Amino acid sequence: MCGIVGYLGFRRADEVIISSLKRLEYRGYDSWGVAIGNGKLSLVKKVGAIGDVEEYSIGDGTLGVGHTRWATHGKPSESNAHPHTDCKNNIAVVHNGIISNFQMLKEKLIEEGHEFKSETDTEVIPHLIEKYYKNSIEDAVINCIVNLRGSYAFVAMCANERKLVACRYKSPLILGVGDKEFFLASDVTAILEYTSRIVYLQDGDIVILTDDGFKILNDCVEVDRQIELVPWGIKDAKKSGYDHFMIKEIHETPKVVEDTLSEYVSDEIELDVSFAAGISEILIIACGTSYHAGLIGKYVIEGLTGIPVRVEYASEFNYHPLLVGRPLAIAITQSGETADTLEAMKKAKKFGARVVTITNVLGSTATRIADHTLYIRAGPEICVAATKSFIAQLIVLYVLALKLANLPRHEINELILELKLIPERIQRILDAKDEIEKIAKRLAKFENMMYVGRGIGYPIALEGALKMKEISYIHAEGYPAGELKHGPFALLGEKTPVIASVIEDPTYEIMLNNIKEVKARDSIVVAIANEDDKEIDKYVDWVVKVPKTNPMFSPITQSVALQILAYYTAKERGCEIDKPRHLAKSVTVE
Ligand code: F6R
Repeated sequence: MCGIVGYLGFRRADEVIISSLKRLEYRGYDSWGVAIGNGKLSLVKKVGAIGDVEEYSIGDGTLGVGHTRWATHGKPSESNAHPHTDCKNNIAVVHNGIISNFQMLKEKLIEEGHEFKSETDTEVIPHLIEKYYKNSIEDAVINCIVNLRGSYAFVAMCANERKLVACRYKSPLILGVGDKEFFLASDVTAILEYTSRIVYLQDGDIVILTDDGFKILNDCVEVDRQIELVPWGIKDAKKSGYDHFMIKEIHETPKVVEDTLSEYVSDEIELDVSFAAGISEILIIACGTSYHAGLIGKYVIEGLTGIPVRVEYASEFNYHPLLVGRPLAIAITQSGETADTLEAMKKAKKFGARVVTITNVLGSTATRIADHTLYIRAGPEICVAATKSFIAQLIVLYVLALKLANLPRHEINELILELKLIPERIQRILDAKDEIEKIAKRLAKFENMMYVGRGIGYPIALEGALKMKEISYIHAEGYPAGELKHGPFALLGEKTPVIASVIEDPTYEIMLNNIKEVKARDSIVVAIANEDDKEIDKYVDWVVKVPKTNPMFSPITQSVALQILAYYTAKERGCEIDKPRHLAKSVTVE
């Protein structure tokens, strides 16, 4: 939610900031703004998508800040767009997070004579800095943050100082270190074009940037933070000839599966699971697509190990956080920054759980809260809708389940071999994507859809429906196929196609019966089924064929097919796809 950028160096700051903001647009994109300092502040604020640098004369300074916004306090408008400034337009601030006590601070500042120009919580920050400013932005910021409650990552600058001061508390912020230049950003993808040397800032850190270097304070003491080299390159953050990041990222899945597998598996599984010693229960906490990965993980872990697995939406767990015995909590989060998931991790820790996170982002907050981190190797995911990262999360869950399973060695080896064939199977789905596109074009005219599955097919249906609704804006619901007759049948008919996840496991026969019941209610049925399944053709209207695999791994192949189906349906409807309305990639507020 919201992306922030700061630059101090030798290049034109407006160019660096706008290009970095464009890479952060997936965090929010209802309005944006840039401030450049060069003796005085030059400010541009606009509603809508980030423009090109040539369109605006922002100023030719080499120091500045920028922001792309996802509205929380105050509607999208130029006055609510960041940077926010003090009364004299001397101090500029870009902020991500929520200042929970802003109302009280604002009233006090107004009483003291400060004039506010926006409805945002952020605006209290430049006014507080103004209040404390004597001759040093650094000192004024330190005095300002004592007053703030809530969460923040912000960057502040003052027109007459060649300095940037940034603070991080419960919202993401990284420092990029170049050669005689420095970058601040909400995440690494923003600045990959310029540097891959990154300092992952920690809660309470205050960074002071000048031409001579950087200094980090925490609790008023100067601290050392390591510079890490991120393994991602700029090509990861570009569309590289694809129409959208979403389809590019789906195409990257075979490689992502290979990379993630090779992290944990060679001839056998090389995953240290000492964190799971003696556990009585596993709790999986996550949001959205990551939650669906957790649901699939439940079927797989319980099926292979017999360890009971509870899966909770992090946002719900936070309000009834009960754990008994010696639980292991697994927090699944692509970004490592989802506020609800981070809070749930902390709650689980308080209850004595050991906490493991499965995440994509090196140094993210989740990795710092967790006792142990299992990285997926998905590379940057720019499209708001998660695709390749979801499949990589599944891979880690499969590897974990196999490692915890008490199966004969030859059975484990067979399953590992099967997993190693997954990239090739996904590639075959990608090679045949035109067939899926044809079905998507027919589905694009509908406004409602029902996704159904049984057993492990049920979370596949949930994820398929989520992908469809978020990018095509078609109302899509995921349901256990057996539950349709307990209510949702009332919605079926020729205007509501049903997408059925058909798995060749013990649910197969009963799933065919459910499909026949649906057909009897005049709904079009699209089945996602194995390529050698001839039977299914008799009962449904269209079939998306996927390569046969062990049924346990069918969530991978079926989900890739459903991602492609959602993509082409949304494309046919002319939707934004990479940046669906009202959504942001990193949900850093609860
Ligand atoms: C949907 C999607 C979201 C995220 C959710 C959690 O396509 O991407 O539902 O899965 O916001 O995000 P992370 O995994 O970063 O915690």
